[in-house]
Amino acid sequence: MYRKTLIVSILVAFVCVQIADSLVCYTCVTPKDCKSPKKVTCTNAAANETSHQLSVYHQNVRDLTSTRFDCLAMKYTWNNDVIHQLHGCVHPSVAACSLTLKPAYAHYNKTRCLTCSGDKCNKSPAGRMSSSTITIVASVLGLLLVKIYA
Ligand SMILES: *[C@@H]1O[C@H](CO)[C@@H](O)[C@H](O)[C@H]1NC(C)=O
Ligand SMILES: *[C@@H]1O[C@H](CO)[C@@H](O)[C@H](O)[C@H]1NC(C)=O
Repeated sequence: MYRKTLIVSILVAFVCVQIADSLVCYTCVTPKDCKSPKKVTCTNAAANETSHQLSVYHQNVRDLTSTRFDCLAMKYTWNNDVIHQLHGCVHPSVAACSLTLKPAYAHYNKTRCLTCSGDKCNKSPAGRMSSSTITIVASVLGLLLVKIYA
């Protein structure tokens, strides 16, 4: 009985830490930069920096303050050359992947854009892990609890 309680406590603590832990994203602002992206812990300042970068190419990037953040991975190409690449923390409400390009840049091909909410989930080049990760962890935990107490 003791052991079961201990296992459950550890699992619960683990999940709580995962959720409470601040989000870390890869960050880079040019194609060259993005070959070896840095890591950044998401803050309003970091997300503001991404908004600033987004607004160089896009219209109507809103000024925001957020309490939670997503990671962004975005890539534009032109004739197979990567023209514009941006990774970083982003205000979820900016809806980075739905932004319209400024007319001067409208010919760019958006070849990749995703926002995600797992640590370092915007890893270059292949972004994986979506917000469903937490859901999966929660479901597995639920199943374990049922198993332990059934
Ligand atoms: C981020 O931008 C918002 C909106 O412009 C501003 O109110 C806020 O102070 C900025 N936060 C930081 C940390 O720079
Ligand atoms: C943009 O993407 C489309 C569809 O993938 C492709 O047919 C077109 O050649 C691309 N244009 C440029 C300039 O890269």
